[in-house]
Amino acid sequence: MTTLTCIFDAYGTLFDVNAAAQVAAQDPAHATLAAVWPALAADWRAKQLEYSWLRAIAGQHCDFWQVTQDGLDWALEAHDINDPAIRERLLELYWELPAYKEAANVLRQIKDRGVQTAILSNGSPRMLQCAVKSAGIDTLLDEVLSVEDVGIFKPADQVYDMVGARFGGAKDSVLFVSSNGWDVAGAAGFGFRTVWVNRQAAPQDRLFAKPHHVVSDLTKIPELI
Ligand code: LAC
Repeated sequence: MTTLTCIFDAYGTLFDVNAAAQVAAQDPAHATLAAVWPALAADWRAKQLEYSWLRAIAGQHCDFWQVTQDGLDWALEAHDINDPAIRERLLELYWELPAYKEAANVLRQIKDRGVQTAILSNGSPRMLQCAVKSAGIDTLLDEVLSVEDVGIFKPADQVYDMVGARFGGAKDSVLFVSSNGWDVAGAAGFGFRTVWVNRQAAPQDRLFAKPHHVVSDLTKIPELI
């Protein structure tokens, strides 16, 4: 099947979500982060996602900025950090997360093959616009799709349906790329061809659909088109 559209998850796939805690921890004013930032970043991310899934199940949608703040507040308390300046700095950095170093080049190669590129993310439109601009990849994307248009988080089918609504084409003409195993399962179950970006060499999630391809970073994606 010819690939017509290559769709990327944003956080963790194109943007390094650990960078906020890593960068903040380098500031001598935030010395309390130095030893705990990797665990804090992992807890922050885990709670952010957990809250997104629970809100989707309970029909209690709010935007991703809210679950990002709520997840951070839980993680800061879990690590006994009670410094408003640290909280503010971490949130500020989340608006300008760096893209992984190979991301721009990979997007360019995909576009050179005549394939459309887009983000499909839980992020709010404002978060995503800021992130793509500050990472310098805004001109390499044909579209940035946010779940806010359907009011529910991934992996709800309504979210993956946004791709067909915007680009048309058969489901299997979409190559969907995510570093999140649960997101890949959602997209594969929906009918997309999928790539799991497994940077940490993690075990594969035991869910309802398996990824079609597994890669260790983004560099091989153009070859899978
Ligand atoms: C996203 C999160 C889930 O960008 O990574 O949708």
